[in-house]
Formats: sequence, C-alpha cells, structure tokens
Amino acid sequence: MEPAVIALESIRKYYYMGDFVIKAVDDVTMRIARGEYTAVMGPSGSGKSTVMHLIGCLDSPSEGTIYIEGEDTSELDEEDLAYLRNAKIGFVFQQFNLLMKLNALDNVMTPLMYAGYPLRERRALAEHTLELVGLRDRMKHRPNELSGGQKQRIAIARALVNDPSIILADEPTGALDTVTGEQIMDLFEDINSRGKTVIMVTHDPEVSSRCRRTIHLRDGKIVEDS
Ligand SMILES: Nc1ncnc2c1ncn2[C@@H]1O[C@H](COP(=O)(O)OP(=O)(O)OP(=O)(O)O)[C@@H](O)[C@H]1O
Ligand SMILES: [Mg+2]
Repeated sequence: MEPAVIALESIRKYYYMGDFVIKAVDDVTMRIARGEYTAVMGPSGSGKSTVMHLIGCLDSPSEGTIYIEGEDTSELDEEDLAYLRNAKIGFVFQQFNLLMKLNALDNVMTPLMYAGYPLRERRALAEHTLELVGLRDRMKHRPNELSGGQKQRIAIARALVNDPSIILADEPTGALDTVTGEQIMDLFEDINSRGKTVIMVTHDPEVSSRCRRTIHLRDGKIVEDS
C-alpha cells in the first residue's frame, strides 16, 4: 500500500487560557491517501480549522505526530516547514485572504517568488494558472474590482500555482451565493480529478455530498468517518 499523503497520529492541540484548557483537537488519528477528496464537517468550535492548520503545518500539535508524504514534520525546523508548506500545500480560505494592493496576476505570483522562480517563469506559470480557473481576462484587476466568486478563483489559482500535491480549503464557498459556490465546487472537483489530494471544511451538506469521504468532528474528536 502506498504511504498516506497525510497521516495524523494521536494529535492533540490544547490551548491554555489561564487555568483553563481548551482541547481544540483531542486525540485525532487519520490517514488521507493520495488523490482523496475529503470533507471535514462539525459544529462551530469542533476543531475543524485547527485540524486544517495542523495539517498545513501553520501550527504544531501539543502532542502526536503529523506526517506529510511520509515525512515526520516534528523533525523539521521553521525553514524546512516553510519550504514544505510552499512546495506541497496550497491553502484556500473562506475570506480569500488576497493581498488587496496587488492585482490578480501578482497575487497568484507570490508563492512562486518565495519559491525562488525567475520573473519570466513566475509570470508564465501564473498566467497559465489563471487561465485554468477561467480568469485570464481579469489579470490586471485588483481584488476590490472582482466579484466574490472571481476572488475565490484567484485564491485557488494562487493555491495551485506551484503545483502542490495537497489542497486545503476552509469553507471556500462560505462567503459565496449558491450558484457561485457550485461553480467553485466544480473547480475543486476538476482539481481533484487532476490528481490533487483535496481536504475541505464545510458546513454545507450539499458540498460534503460531493466529496467521497466525510470526517465529522465534535469537541475535537472524530465521531464519524465515512
Ligand atoms: N488561538 C487560539 N487560542 C485559544 N483557543 C483557540 C484558538 N484557536 C481556536 N481556539 C479554540 O479551539 C476550538 C476549536 O476552534 P476551531 O477554530 O478549530 O473551530 P471550527 O470547528 O473551525 O469552528 P468554525 O466552524 O466556527 O470555524 C474553539 O473552542 C476555539 O475557541
Ligand atoms: Mg473554522
């Protein structure tokens, strides 16, 4: 069997607020295979975003081990982690998180700058990726000159541009109307069919019904995995 792309082993994430302990993630073990398309559901405060941040190495667990493509992330220093995030993981957020002063093209080019690509290559790759999300004709627009759905496409292009194997999306359709949300879901399906491993947090049963696997969290624990 091929090793899991993502493996979480007995992960706990505790926040200490004075005398109070918040168990945001409380003993979570999961394996995600290459090319899987997984929804993460659960009530507000159940730990969904925390799990995504841990998988994306934006944060480290209080206990347990996270493996990304077989690599034990607890053995990596900050620099290695930054490299791994940039090379292997693309993030998409509910509120897009675009840089407001940069146009669409420059927003999509930013991850390539950190990865050290020369300018011409950055441009070509970013244009190609904008084409893929159907927004080549909006390259020069800034985020405030784009619709919500277009902003999310830009954010998706930015997540895809350096060809990561894993795409993490936290409520990517949460700020969009139904029709636009469906178009964004079509785009994620297309991305998954090109071989990317996709994990998506959602509140929407319509959205999760389009994923092949759904993991339900409650109080930081997995209560269902189907
Ligand atoms: N930085 C932090 N410091 C302290 N507590 C935190 C922190 N981040 C999250 N929490 C707590 O951890 C728990 C899980 O939060 P998390 O953001 O993962 O929930 P969620 O499932 O994503 O919720 P939502 O659906 O509302 O986005 C919550 O009780 C939250 O208050
Ligand atoms: Mg959340």
